[in-house]
Amino acid sequence: MSWSRPIALKLAASTAALVAGLAASLVTDTPALAKTAPKPVLDASAVAVPDQYSAETAQQIFKEGGNAVDAAVAIAFTLAVTYPDAGNLGGGGFMTVFMDGKPYFLDYLGTAPQQATREMYLDDKGKVMGSMSTVGSRAAAVPGTVEGMWEAQQRFGKLKWKQVLAPAIHYATDGFKVDSRLQQVRDDSARNFTGKTNFDAYFSSLKAGTVFRQPELAQTLERIASDGGREFYEGHTAELIGTQMFGHGLITKQDLQQYKAVWRQPLMADWHGYQVVTAPPPSSGGVGLIQMLKMKADLKPAFDGVELNSAPYIHLIAQIEDRVFADRQQYVDDPDVKPVPVDKLTDDSYLSQRAAEVKADEVPGAQPVKPGLDVAQAEKPETTHFSVVDKWGNAVSNTYSLNGSFGSGVVVDGAGFLLNDEMDDFVTQPGTASVPGAAANDLNTIAAGRRPVSSMTPTILLKDGKVSTVIGTPGGSRIFTTIFQVMTDMVDFGMSPANAVDAMRFHHQLLPQKTIYFEPYHPITGDLADQLKAKGYSVEGQSFNGDVQLIRVDGTTPQAAADPRGVGVGAVFQ
Ligand code: DON
Repeated sequence: MSWSRPIALKLAASTAALVAGLAASLVTDTPALAKTAPKPVLDASAVAVPDQYSAETAQQIFKEGGNAVDAAVAIAFTLAVTYPDAGNLGGGGFMTVFMDGKPYFLDYLGTAPQQATREMYLDDKGKVMGSMSTVGSRAAAVPGTVEGMWEAQQRFGKLKWKQVLAPAIHYATDGFKVDSRLQQVRDDSARNFTGKTNFDAYFSSLKAGTVFRQPELAQTLERIASDGGREFYEGHTAELIGTQMFGHGLITKQDLQQYKAVWRQPLMADWHGYQVVTAPPPSSGGVGLIQMLKMKADLKPAFDGVELNSAPYIHLIAQIEDRVFADRQQYVDDPDVKPVPVDKLTDDSYLSQRAAEVKADEVPGAQPVKPGLDVAQAEKPETTHFSVVDKWGNAVSNTYSLNGSFGSGVVVDGAGFLLNDEMDDFVTQPGTASVPGAAANDLNTIAAGRRPVSSMTPTILLKDGKVSTVIGTPGGSRIFTTIFQVMTDMVDFGMSPANAVDAMRFHHQLLPQKTIYFEPYHPITGDLADQLKAKGYSVEGQSFNGDVQLIRVDGTTPQAAADPRGVGVGAVFQ
């Protein structure tokens, strides 16, 4: 294995011991390869993951003969233990898969419980009641992660289900060493939860430098390992969720029994000789990403000679983003509830028409692009993404989430995992508009069984039918604007994967108008800030602009780049 980041070269002694223990615990589990492995087509397998433990898990799974889906499922379960602020059993997400030459997309997003109603968070004056949609049991949607992992692994995995759960069980039982990032996120989140949930009872001992063990979570993982993914929805774990909800939350045993992950047609588009394979609705991200890529390509003359991340460049991209966010807020919904005109929204001539409205000399906000409800502001900056490529040329791009850090702050007693606050991704106060004259509509309102509109955008680029790039990030509405920037930095500006992931990123969306957000990692200051202000923008800092996990395959050689903004690891396994 070669690590692409120095952090991984210096594994602490305790970590090395954990890895040795991990290897030992897996030796007893004999791999059962369903079919003879085809000949490798790449020199190596690779992952870009948000922490070192999930990289070690991937290494183990590849050593046992697992493919990209086995590794992805094992990584997801590991992160539920070692990255509990976003990795999860009690949340949901999307998985984009390229397997044996074909693209697939699995939607395992959480759904609104049967008892959920359009105005469930409103008081009698029509105002949202406190933090009810973000903290506590009523914030939780029916979790999809375990069903998603089970579906993916049953369909495409080569190893036994138990084998892919083993690393997570090890980390839950024997513990893992907590880093300062995790303690910081815990400390910041605890303030919201103390006195309102049972969060402290489970996570108050999460302290940097100490080993953190989760015996109840280990038992839950053991049950899922021996009884299969449906255990979560129909077995003892379902009982424990039902008990936790009793008198507090809405999720019932029937909700759990009825939960289904959905295989959807991935969204596909041609761009600069690549085929982009990305997330369809209920994600808004795939549509947004394709719209941005195509509009920028269409505006080639306007971008000619414009320096990357200069004020004129940021202005042109912001104009594109206004149009993309206007469409997102007007058209994207749960496709099982309301058809989304995806073909029209990503159609070349429609986008050329929209691109023609973008002008270098436009005064920002002078002619407001059709504004919609300000749904984006409610989105949280936490979630997590990982990218995987195996030596047979298969790939997984997976983004999953509890929504906010540590989700709703509610731990299922006796089961040791957190529930999400994904209900907050719905429009919780329907019929209101934050901009005068904006249309109010029923898009993304709460209804039983509905999926909320998401921004998660796990993406794979193909070239000549083979995997070229696997990319994704957390970041709420910044997800697809971030992926767009990294992709164009590589393809339009020729940056290496590491440089593209490192490069400055900014964010703009329709609302709030005329605002360019910058990040602490590459702040916008000095002349650049002055030029943007002179153009009419307000320039504001934000604490987070993604944690990109990227793999690029050049010829037969994969390279992995983890975002230096986080504690992730890019690793290549020979
Ligand atoms: O599905 C969504 O778009 C949100 N629940 C994702 C939240 C998110 O990305 C937070 N990320 N850092």
